[in-house]
Amino acid sequence: MKIGIIGTGYVGLVHGAVMADFGIEVICADIDKQKIDKLNKGEVPIYEPGLKELLQKVNDRIQFTTDLEYTVENSEAIFIAVGTPQAEDGSADLTYVFQAAESIGKHMNGYKVIVNKSTVPVGTGKRVKEIIKKQLENKDVNYDFDVVSNPEFLREGKAIKDSQLPDRIIIGCESEKAKEIMKKIYDVLYLKETPFLFTNIETAETIKYAANAFLAVKISYINEMALLCEKVGADVQEVAKAMGMDGRISSKFLNAGPGFGGSCFPKDTRAIYDTALKNSEEMMVIKGAIEANEKQKRKMAEKIISIMETVSNKTIGILGLSFKPETDDMREAPSINIIRELVQKGARIKTFCPGAMKEARPIFSDINEHIQYCKDEYEAVKDAHAVVIITEWNQFRGMNLQRTKKLMKDNYMFDLRNIHAKDKSVYELFQYYGVGKG
Ligand code: UDX
Repeated sequence: MKIGIIGTGYVGLVHGAVMADFGIEVICADIDKQKIDKLNKGEVPIYEPGLKELLQKVNDRIQFTTDLEYTVENSEAIFIAVGTPQAEDGSADLTYVFQAAESIGKHMNGYKVIVNKSTVPVGTGKRVKEIIKKQLENKDVNYDFDVVSNPEFLREGKAIKDSQLPDRIIIGCESEKAKEIMKKIYDVLYLKETPFLFTNIETAETIKYAANAFLAVKISYINEMALLCEKVGADVQEVAKAMGMDGRISSKFLNAGPGFGGSCFPKDTRAIYDTALKNSEEMMVIKGAIEANEKQKRKMAEKIISIMETVSNKTIGILGLSFKPETDDMREAPSINIIRELVQKGARIKTFCPGAMKEARPIFSDINEHIQYCKDEYEAVKDAHAVVIITEWNQFRGMNLQRTKKLMKDNYMFDLRNIHAKDKSVYELFQYYGVGKG
């Protein structure tokens, strides 16, 4: 079995490495020559735990190229794993998906299965099919092909494990021939008794958005509950724990925080809301989750400013910039909103993040004069009036609170992930504020 993967971002690269580990010959293609050159030198362009090691291990079964013709000609199945960034109107921008489909059609030399792994709105599979058909007509050939939707559910930071041991594999396809090829590709998972769901393309495309939007709703729900808890003297962590004891609810994704970020939830919630609007439906629950998330991010800075009375000329130590731990990704990270708001109100920022220091500088290019990037958490809190924990890196869970207090000028601690909430000493050392701890 030989497969091609177009797009070497998080999804494409991780999928390629894991498939190669499963014994498949993989060709990873990208139009970005710099990226391919790096990969051919053994460098990994993204930060994902375990990926570098896995790519080294499967080195003789994986190739990296910018040659799409070679990729298509030599692959039985071709996965499209390119980016689908958010367009200005909130919809998913499908330019790269359609470009990939065009290249596939142009270079096809026989029967192929074209697998959509990028997160794409319902109906994209059909459009990919039309584009390929048109390319084949242009070449005046009549090769048979199938389009399959096989959405990816991996989480950043846990991408390898999520791909090696997924909760489920969703395959939307219209032909038995394609179904058999997909089963063959995922043979290892089939043998491991991973649940498989075979359905039509439109349903598979919808599943991905439905799952992500539901998780986003869950987070916004607990975040709004946290705001109420603060007002009425309740504890959101206890509320979430008790809610999670109901098997119908489950305890996962009920951690209150500064709002969800990342490359998926913000983009996917807006995209499915847009798809519904285009189909004359307004998804009120998802709209609510999006708006509650914006509000949550705003509320964090508001709370800090109101408790400290003013942040003007105050030094704030910010710990954690990435949207979650174990990643360098800052896309839609709540840290961006919080830092911008604090700087706007006159604060000086000192910050440290174990993953995203390099990413942060260009994001804050217009306000970098107010930000000091520090070598660790202790340098970031030195002479600070307040420390704000935005991302729950383990390093911050384990930080020495006594030492932190001694280094600071004043003793405000805003723990936006409640990582120290259960430590009694934190209340003695700091003016401590968690999220939803009334
Ligand atoms: C998510 C989905 O989990 C994954 O299945 C999909 O393929 C891509 O989108 P990811 O974006 O990597 O994965 O991050 P995830 O761990 O789901 O967290 C998303 C955001 O929600 C983060 O900002 C995180 O901090 C926040 N979150 C998550 C909470 O605030 N509370 C929670 O209880 C869980």
